[in-house]
Amino acid sequence: MKIFLIGFMGSGKTTLGRKLAQKLGYTFADLDERMCAYTGKTIPELFASLGEDGFRKLEQEVLHSTQKEENLVVSTGGGTPCFFDNMDWMNKEGKTVYLHVAAKALAVRLEQAKTERPLLGNRTGEDLLAFIEHKLAEREAFYQKANMMVSGLDMTADKLLLYLEAAQLK
Ligand code: S3P
Repeated sequence: MKIFLIGFMGSGKTTLGRKLAQKLGYTFADLDERMCAYTGKTIPELFASLGEDGFRKLEQEVLHSTQKEENLVVSTGGGTPCFFDNMDWMNKEGKTVYLHVAAKALAVRLEQAKTERPLLGNRTGEDLLAFIEHKLAEREAFYQKANMMVSGLDMTADKLLLYLEAAQLK
């Protein structure tokens, strides 16, 4: 069984994914971390050297490399579901969970963590919020294809586990 956590940057995919994997006794994979380990570069370095197109190809390659693994929780990058057929691929390979967080809350969280997220550039305050609102609206149709949508704001691994069991997604 594989569980893919999807959602915007700052929605808490990595923190929650790691805890969920621990509870389930599954392996945890963070796609960004795997891309960095695979190339020996940081996310901003990968964006700078490959451009966004190259970054998305590498991201898909690393996503596909999870195919051979079993009992895995995968935290994807915020853009992963929105390129190629990645969302359909994940829905075929396992169960997908969308961690939904409203744009205003994302803006507060992302204000603190912009440097490792090249898409956000130097935006702050109202600019940052407007960018997030726009990008989130663009991406929502992809995210909505998930098997399950939960609020990312107050989500815990225990709660998510209960939801997954109730929906018979695990
Ligand atoms: C991106 C999200 C990032 C990372 C890259 C691009 C995006 O991952 O993959 O900076 O397009 O939303 P997180 O969602 O883990 O921040």
